[in-house]
Amino acid sequence: MSIYTWQQVGQHQKNGWLVIDGVVYDPTPYLNEHPGGPAVLQNRFGKDATRDFNETGHTSGARQMLEKYKIGTVDKTSPQEPWQAGGGTPANAQQFAFLIIALVMVFILWKVFAK
Ligand code: HEM
Repeated sequence: MSIYTWQQVGQHQKNGWLVIDGVVYDPTPYLNEHPGGPAVLQNRFGKDATRDFNETGHTSGARQMLEKYKIGTVDKTSPQEPWQAGGGTPANAQQFAFLIIALVMVFILWKVFAK
């Protein structure tokens, strides 16, 4: 498994590499099978697709599928071009935020009804 710089990832805008949670993937063979269509993948080639991948509500099945296309990891200390950004919130941070919101709602309901 190799470590790539953002510059190297950026050289694969046409023949398809993308980054999700710091891992580099080459989903080229999967393009035409992707249920979300090839264009959304092609749009993220050479870039960080973490936010898009997490926010489009992929199942754990889709997450497991990623393993097949893994080619390496990204060198986080390497400089990233502004057009490559798209990190966003990692899935577990989103789950944590949801938990906090749920707890606050339970607290409010309890305040209202426990009289
Ligand atoms: C190599 C990376 C990716 C893999 C392996 C992958 C895999 C999948 C799979 C298996 C599904 C079917 C639903 C599910 O099981 O979750 C799906 C749906 C979808 N994907 Fe991806 N995906 C990838 C990257 C992306 C990216 C970067 C986007 C960017 C926006 C995206 C957008 C979508 C959308 C919009 C759907 C929903 C399609 C629909 O339900 O009509 N995917 N993907």
